[in-house]
Amino acid sequence: MNNQGPVEGAANMESGSRVFVYEVVGLRQNRESDQTNYPIRKSGSVFIRVPYNRMNQEMRRITRLGGKIVSIYPVSVLEQGTNRTVLTNTESQLSSPAPVSVNTKQNTLPATSSEAQGFAKPPAKDKKGTTMTQAKTKHADVPVNTYRPNAPFIGKCISNETLVRQGGIGKVQHLKFDLSGSQLKYIEGQSIGIIPPGVDKNGKPEKLRLYSIASTRHGDDVDDTTISLCVRQLEYKHPESGEIVYGVCSTYLTDLKPGDDVKITGPVGKEMLLPDNTDANVIMLATGTGIAPMRAYLWRMFKDAERSVNSEYQFNGFAWLLFGVPTTPNILYKEELEEIQAQYPNNFRLTYAISREQNNPEGGRMYIQDRVAENANELWQLIKNPKTHTYICGLRGMEDGIDAALSKAAAQEGVTWSDYQKAIKKEGRWHVETY
Ligand SMILES: Cc1cc2nc3c(=O)[nH]c(=O)nc-3n(C[C@H](O)[C@H](O)[C@H](O)COP(=O)(O)OP(=O)(O)OC[C@H]3O[C@@H](n4cnc5c(N)ncnc54)[C@H](O)[C@@H]3O)c2cc1C
Ligand SMILES: NC(=O)c1ccc[n+]([C@@H]2O[C@H](COP(=O)([O-])OP(=O)(O)OC[C@H]3O[C@@H](n4cnc5c(N)ncnc54)[C@H](OP(=O)(O)O)[C@@H]3O)[C@@H](O)[C@H]2O)c1
Repeated sequence: MNNQGPVEGAANMESGSRVFVYEVVGLRQNRESDQTNYPIRKSGSVFIRVPYNRMNQEMRRITRLGGKIVSIYPVSVLEQGTNRTVLTNTESQLSSPAPVSVNTKQNTLPATSSEAQGFAKPPAKDKKGTTMTQAKTKHADVPVNTYRPNAPFIGKCISNETLVRQGGIGKVQHLKFDLSGSQLKYIEGQSIGIIPPGVDKNGKPEKLRLYSIASTRHGDDVDDTTISLCVRQLEYKHPESGEIVYGVCSTYLTDLKPGDDVKITGPVGKEMLLPDNTDANVIMLATGTGIAPMRAYLWRMFKDAERSVNSEYQFNGFAWLLFGVPTTPNILYKEELEEIQAQYPNNFRLTYAISREQNNPEGGRMYIQDRVAENANELWQLIKNPKTHTYICGLRGMEDGIDAALSKAAAQEGVTWSDYQKAIKKEGRWHVETY
C-alpha cells in the first residue's frame, strides 16, 4: 500500500512540530463530548486543531464521539487571518448529475454515493494499525523510457478513426497502434513519443513529439498488445504570410493508414497517474485533446471489460469530468462518455463547456473555467477531501481561470487558494499537464 497515515504524511511535509486541523462531521452531544471544548453543532462541520503528536489519539476520540473526519489540513493553510470555525456541509451542496439522453442499465458501485462524493469514512488502517489517508504516492515501479529516441520501437498503425463529427471544427483522430513483440508497457496518465519521418528545416531528422496515451494499460482490445492516442492536426494561419500551416507530426499521425509503421519512444511521465485507492474522488478538467488521459482513467474505472481483468481495481469512488470543446460535434468520445454516465449516475458526473454554442454569465464563450466558477463551491468542498485528486489536461490558457474560480470559493472560508494548492501539489493530489 503506497498511502501513508496523517502522521507519516505530516512528517513528509516537514511538519512534525506543527498543528493540523481536522474537519469533522457528525459529532454527537453526549456526556463525553460535553467535556470537550469543540463547538458542536447538530449539523455541519466542526474544526478541531490537533498537534502533530496527538493526531492518532484525537482521531480515536472523535470516532468514539460519533464523528467522521472528512478532511485534514496543516494549520498554515487555514490560518490566513481568519477565526472561522464552521464550514458548510458538502452533502447539501451536491446536486444530481446532469441528465443525458442515452438509456442503458444503471449501476451503482458498492460505496454509497455520499461516501464517494466527499464524506470520507474515518481513514482505513493498515496491518500495523497506522491510519492511512492520501499522501504523495511513490512511483518507483512505473515504466519509463523503455524505448529511447535513438532506438525507437517500430509499431504498426491498426486503425485511424475520425472523432470530430459533421459540422465540427478541425481534424481529431483516434489512433490505435500494435505493440506486439515490444517490451513497451505503460500505465494510465503516461505519454509516448512519436518520431515523424523526414527532416526539419535545418536538414536534421525530425525530433519526437509527445502524445498523452488515451488507452488503459491493457489497450482498447484489453489484450495488452495495443496503445491508443487522440491527436488533433495542428492547423494555424502563419502570422506573417497568412498561409495555412499544418503541424508536421500531427499531420503525419492523423493521415496514417492501417499497416503503416510508426516510430514510438517512451513511455514517459509520472505526473498524471491515478491513485491506487478505488474509493478516490477524481476531478478531471480537460479541453479538446486533453481528454486523452481522462479517457484512459474512465475506461479503467468503468468499462466492463476492464473491470473484469482488474480484480485489484474495482473503482467505487466518484469521478467528475468537466470537458471544454468548441462545438457539440467536437465532443470527443461523446457516446461512450454518456453511456458511462447513464450506467453509473452516482459515480460519474459529466459537465460540458461548449464554447461556441454556450455563453458564460458575461455573454462570452463558455470555457471550462466558467463551469468551474459555476460549480466552485462543490468542487472546493470535494478538493478539501483527502481522497480527492484533480487532473488538468489541455490548453494552458484554462489554468488562470480555474485558479481564480477556486480562489473565490476558498476565500469564502478564509483559505488562500495558492497556499492550499501548493499543499495538495506536494501531497500529489493536484496534477497538471497543459500545452
Ligand atoms: C505532455 C504532452 C502531451 C501531449 N499530448 C497531446 C495529445 O494527446 N494530443 C495532441 O494532439 N497533442 C498533444 N500534445 C502536443 C504534441 O506534442 C505536438 O506539439 C502537436 O501535435 C504539434 O506537433 P506538430 O509536429 O504537428 O507541429 P509542429 O510542426 O512541430 O509545429 C508546432 C510549431 O508551430 C508553431 N505554431 C503552432 N501554433 C501556432 C500559431 N497559432 N501561430 C503561430 N505559430 C504556431 C509553433 O512554432 C510550434 O512550435 C502534447 C504535448 C505534450 C507536451
Ligand atoms: N502542443 C501544442 O502546441 C498543441 C497540442 C494539441 C493541440 N494544440 C492546438 O491547440 C488547439 C486546441 O486543440 P484541441 O483539439 O486540444 O482543442 P479544441 O477541440 O480546439 O478545444 C479546445 C477548447 O478550449 C477552448 N479554449 C480556447 N482558449 C481557451 C482558454 N484560454 N481557456 C479555456 N478554454 C479555452 C476552445 O474554445 P474556442 O476555440 O471556442 O475559443 C475550445 O472550446 C488547436 O489549435 C490545436 O492545434 C496544440
